[in-house]
Amino acid sequence: MSDILEAPAPMADGSRSGEVVLEVQGVMKSFGPLAVLRGIDLNLHAGEVLGLVGDNGAGKSTLVKILSGYSPQDAGRILLKGEEVRFRSVEDAAAHGIETVYQDLALIPQLPVYLNLFLNHEMTHYGPLHVLDKRKMRNLTRQYLDDINVNVPNINAEVGQLSGGQRQAIAVARATRSDASILLLDEPLAAMGARESRLIIDLVRGLASSRSVSMIIIDHNFAHLFELCDRVNVMQGGKITINQKTKDTSLEELTELMVSSYRSQIQQAGRA
Ligand SMILES: Nc1ncnc2c1ncn2[C@@H]1O[C@H](COP(=O)(O)OP(=O)(O)O)[C@@H](O)[C@H]1O
Ligand SMILES: [Mg+2]
Repeated sequence: MSDILEAPAPMADGSRSGEVVLEVQGVMKSFGPLAVLRGIDLNLHAGEVLGLVGDNGAGKSTLVKILSGYSPQDAGRILLKGEEVRFRSVEDAAAHGIETVYQDLALIPQLPVYLNLFLNHEMTHYGPLHVLDKRKMRNLTRQYLDDINVNVPNINAEVGQLSGGQRQAIAVARATRSDASILLLDEPLAAMGARESRLIIDLVRGLASSRSVSMIIIDHNFAHLFELCDRVNVMQGGKITINQKTKDTSLEELTELMVSSYRSQIQQAGRA
């Protein structure tokens, strides 16, 4: 009872548990005549895992690209801890603590695990020649993968030789290594078997609880989302139509809600 009245504990990045870290207000985006996002409103709390579902073509990846600084919205606002931001690039969003794991992963298969982890942030020995400090990068890679419980037996192996689940884990590790506070994951479990999905689900849950990373995760498997997420948002017709905490609902109820929401949209479209 009393815990409701107590102030939440401070998090590693100075934010407070449960505080709104990201707010999206009325975000719109069209491609030519195609209005994909028609006023998206959502928020994300510190250490929360938010699931985003919706049909193929609903605009989920479009929203992720806007939030990751890849492309700008046409209208609407994005706020980080209450402050409006306008990202100029992916690097700019990263500087604000937002990292993204895309479907294509953006890893380099021919490079070893530890160099992929430091891609574009390579460490060099002190001096004018910028000689790579491989030992330091190897040590930090081992340490970080240990920290977040990712089991990759050989960090000198080329990423291309790893399983899909291990590659996805490396991509997540890379995105979170540099103190990202918000992580966007676009279908991280696509094309993954049950055991591999397990690996990523555990990793995501671990990052949310131990490092207080807030996440938006896209997946169209409801069962996965129920295991992964604290809350689920459904995107239909360019808007968020359903916003449910997973602990307050069930797989059956959410499916039911989605179906009836689709029905009423179809009816509305019929009347229009
Ligand atoms: N760069 C683009 N140019 C034109 N149309 C696009 C572009 N990106 C996405 N679209 C269209 O926007 C809609 C939403 O796409 P997307 O965000 O990828 O959906 P989702 O990720 O939910 O499957 C689709 O109809 C898609 O074809
Ligand atoms: Mg997509």
